[in-house]
Amino acid sequence: MKRVFSGVQPSGELTLGNYLGALRNFVRLQHEAECFFCVVDLHAITVPQDPAQLNRRTFDLAKLYVASGLDPKIATIFVQSHVPAHSELSWLLSCFTYIGELSRMTQFKEKGRKGENVSSGLLMYPVLMAADILLYDTDAVPVGEDQKQHLELSRNIAERINHHFGPVFRVPEPLIPPKKAGARIMSLTDPTAKMAKSGEANSYIALLDPPEVIAKKIRAAVTDSGREVYYDEVNKPAISNLMVIYSLCSGEALETIAERYGSSGYGRFKSDLAEHVIQTLKPIQERYRELSEPGVIEAILAEGAAKAESVAKVTLDRFRQKIGLVPRFNLD
Ligand code: TYM
Repeated sequence: MKRVFSGVQPSGELTLGNYLGALRNFVRLQHEAECFFCVVDLHAITVPQDPAQLNRRTFDLAKLYVASGLDPKIATIFVQSHVPAHSELSWLLSCFTYIGELSRMTQFKEKGRKGENVSSGLLMYPVLMAADILLYDTDAVPVGEDQKQHLELSRNIAERINHHFGPVFRVPEPLIPPKKAGARIMSLTDPTAKMAKSGEANSYIALLDPPEVIAKKIRAAVTDSGREVYYDEVNKPAISNLMVIYSLCSGEALETIAERYGSSGYGRFKSDLAEHVIQTLKPIQERYRELSEPGVIEAILAEGAAKAESVAKVTLDRFRQKIGLVPRFNLD
């Protein structure tokens, strides 16, 4: 059976972009492969986090994984920092990764530009991501388009090490949906920027937004000139983005949507879109509330960490041995 690994950062509210670009595909894949889905808290702390908020968001994200439809009996759901092998492999891989490769990463350059005190953790971010993936002998990594460059680096690191020491790591394939299927959901207030949890409040829909807030944000979403509804990324970037969201939430083809609204203006299109988004998120929000019973998510994460650790340990030991590290001695 193929192995799948992916992760999401508990660094803010989860957005509709995260859901359509990644989580929705996790749910489908759990029936086709052996899946590991991680709450990557160690990635979140590469930029400053409020400790209480990080703590709460880690639980919230684990609950949202389950509420979105991941079944902890089928998929392994765990917190990255609960499995120390991630940090250890990250260190080992960093010794086979060049500073030049890391400083060329687009996300590092973008995030680094914003802050004055850029941590070395932010530079190392993609190495930790490679460790996440390689530890599980991963075949495929479902992600949105923004993670493509990081995945290429993971592949390069794996190939470099395999070349040097003989086969150690499986080289993972990215699993990125086509643009029209959610690879890159754009901001509601600026269709040239991706929808991100770090954006201003009206630019993204959070998975836990109440219906009236969703409706308000979609009403306020920027549109393009004209009044026709059709898909054209170059001339109609805002409407094209809303159409992709409509299509993914309703299950209807882009052509069907264009035919229905044609030149009837944006008003009815937007109010129907809001309804489809609300209906898509409603079951997730209901399940999320049910999971708030104390102990439920803790049990899922305890089991997930134990399972993940047993798999990760084998890969880590294999690599330690290849590079000449002496195994730990046991006195009994
Ligand atoms: P993160 O937490 O930023 O995002 C989680 C997932 O959501 C996707 N995504 C989007 N997809 C479509 N449209 C958008 N606007 C959008 N915004 C986000 C992301 O591509 C991602 O798949 N580095 C990763 C976390 C990570 C990881 C890993 C992923 C750490 N280790 C190992 C895969 C494998 C990240 O920052 O995701």
